[in-house]
Amino acid sequence: MAQIYSRIMATGSALPERVLTNADLEKFVDTSDEWIHSRTGIRQRHVAAEGETTGDFATLAAQRALDAAGVKPSELDLIILGTTTPDIIFPSTACLVQHRLGANGCAAFDVNAACSGFVYALGIADKFIRSGQSKKVLVIGAETLTRMVDWTERETCVLFGDGAGAVVLEASDEPGIYATCLHADGGHKELLYNPVGVSVGFKDEPNHGVRIRMSGREVFKVAVKTLDSLVEETLAAAGMEASQLDWLIPHQANLRIIEATAKRLNMPMDQVIVTVDKHANTSSGSVPLALDSAVRSGKVKRGQNLLLEAFGGGFTWASALLRY
Ligand code: COA
Repeated sequence: MAQIYSRIMATGSALPERVLTNADLEKFVDTSDEWIHSRTGIRQRHVAAEGETTGDFATLAAQRALDAAGVKPSELDLIILGTTTPDIIFPSTACLVQHRLGANGCAAFDVNAACSGFVYALGIADKFIRSGQSKKVLVIGAETLTRMVDWTERETCVLFGDGAGAVVLEASDEPGIYATCLHADGGHKELLYNPVGVSVGFKDEPNHGVRIRMSGREVFKVAVKTLDSLVEETLAAAGMEASQLDWLIPHQANLRIIEATAKRLNMPMDQVIVTVDKHANTSSGSVPLALDSAVRSGKVKRGQNLLLEAFGGGFTWASALLRY
């Protein structure tokens, strides 16, 4: 029997209209554009307006991807949405988006793998397609991470933003996705987490204690080391050499982490898609936002080999090597 691959038909993305620059932040936190940019590469981030939700951006990104693919929502077999900031506790944001698209009836679920959510969702979708279970799958990464940001805490509030990206996958005889690698190590929970929730309970604090706790320097070190071995593992899984890659499309958390991974792969920065300057860290939204911007700007072309990777709270880390 011929091998089934999953192939990206098209991409889409959506961002909140409101842009908050580093200069805007300087007005209410003790920080500077120079500090933020030199350490992270970030110049600005998009921030959801009051009332705008993860599902709003996810739906818009999905509609754009479906339009570009020429696929009707009713043709979808499955929707997987990576998020750590769902609209409500349940139903899942994937279900809310499914109904808004008019794709009612297909399987739909969320994946919470923090910043690796989209790449995890892509890996799962690939398995559904390879097994013959699904033919057309919508994969979304969407977040309103600024809902978890404490705007008085300069160590974290400068780093994050909101947005969503999506891809439509289809079953194909031709690659497609060559390999995906998914990992987690819950032993690092304390380095990056949000300590409240339904089961543990909430706190008598501003925003009910919902805020990101992060040991930035430690996260940085583990991320660089982990991504180094992840990219090696992914190349081996696909049976490829780094020289065969056309583009690195990394998680957009910090330009210095991105540069370290590119160096490991011996790839010049002009083969790396960078959007962290404009979007900051949008968690699950980051990789599909970067991918869509690269596709729509004409940088990424059909037939090129792309390495997608992400790292986030958990820790989780994940990658996909694919021919676009
Ligand atoms: N503006 C100005 N100064 C700031 C600041 C800000 N926004 N945030 C922290 N500082 C100060 C600190 O208080 C500290 O001051 P001190 O030396 O007087 O104590 C100083 O800057 C250095 O802080 P440090 O944490 O050592 O800086 P760093 O070079 O490690 O950079 C991060 C901090 C957060 C940018 C960096 O560690 C990082 O990007 N880590 C990874 C985070 C990440 O990507 N998380 C998501 C993963 S998915």
